[in-house]
Amino acid sequence: MSSRKYLKATDLAQLSAVDILQRCLNVETVVSTKSSFMQRSHLAVRYPDLQHIVEIGAGMQALSTNLVHEYSLHQAVVRAFDRYDGSVNSGVRVPRLFNIIRDTDEDFGTHNLDKFPTSYRTRGHMVTMDRILPLPKIVRKALISHFYARDGDVLPDPGAIDAILDIPQNKHCLVRTYLGRDTGVLTKHGFSLRNFPLFLKPMQELGLDVMGLASTMGKAFAIMHWGAGVNGDDVEFVLGSSVIQGTGVEALRLDVQQRAIGFYLLDFGQCYVVDLSDDRDIVYQGFKGAMVTGDNQLFIPHYEKSPHLYAAFRKGYIEAGQVILQERTLESKFSVVDFMNEYEEYAEDFLC
Ligand SMILES: Nc1ncnc2c1ncn2[C@@H]1O[C@H](COP(=O)(O)OP(=O)(O)O)[C@@H](O)[C@H]1O
Ligand SMILES: [Mg+2]
Repeated sequence: MSSRKYLKATDLAQLSAVDILQRCLNVETVVSTKSSFMQRSHLAVRYPDLQHIVEIGAGMQALSTNLVHEYSLHQAVVRAFDRYDGSVNSGVRVPRLFNIIRDTDEDFGTHNLDKFPTSYRTRGHMVTMDRILPLPKIVRKALISHFYARDGDVLPDPGAIDAILDIPQNKHCLVRTYLGRDTGVLTKHGFSLRNFPLFLKPMQELGLDVMGLASTMGKAFAIMHWGAGVNGDDVEFVLGSSVIQGTGVEALRLDVQQRAIGFYLLDFGQCYVVDLSDDRDIVYQGFKGAMVTGDNQLFIPHYEKSPHLYAAFRKGYIEAGQVILQERTLESKFSVVDFMNEYEEYAEDFLC
């Protein structure tokens, strides 16, 4: 990714929702913003009584055995990114894993269980990992102003926007980039900023860099496949943020944060391992099968309906795949070009 653009939340606040989204749903952007969370976190490091754990997302309840499996796949993907992303430059980040805490670890329970919300105090295995931070508040507000269902042409009044913004679930705002589908329903009733679905058409209307995202996703799939031997079934791609070190006097301020917008890959719960020492056809089948199932087709550009966008995905995938196969001296066994051709044929039969 090229140069960073630093924007102040106070300056952004002067702009229209469309302008804010255009500038901020972009992986080169850093938003400098006041953060109460930052101040609270600094205090909590010194005062453990202030530490508490909140729910920021929920999926299917995984069985403990699955969690161990997911941990090892997630770890394989992190390692593959560590190993190959230097040459591939995908632009995607994968949350780092810290630890897996087994249900037999009495010590952890004694010291930490009362920090969890009451409904989460029964013990199973637990995994700790980096948190992808939500999009900054200024972006969340713009998402509501721009996307919340309107009555005719009338926007919800500012009080209503603030009320939606304050709903705890809406603070944990990650945006899913559904390049594979033009539009989807965003009902008033179901409106939520948690895992907010951003479809292709609105992304194009906002002038977002969809070609860049498509290429980036292609590269990420190639690292998962050829670097980690993980099929990528039902993974998620989201725009979120992370704190980066400020520069100059800003760096010394505890109440100001530099939040870099980032593109993240997560959720390896449905993935399985594809053994690259198996026959080529078995390997291709494992990978292409996963690409057409689950939510993957929401993310992957449609090869027929959006040919240019799909071409960017394909190019990213092929470039990254070739680099990795060469590094692993597997390029005589596998051809990513053949694989992509097979995927397209397969998708043609599978998708309508
Ligand atoms: N590292 C993370 N940082 C921030 N949010 C996360 C992280 N991991 C998961 N989430 C949130 O929690 C949700 C559920 O987690 P996920 O791993 O997708 O579980 P499931 O496999 O059950 O779908 C995700 O969709 C996402 O919104
Ligand atoms: Mg999930």
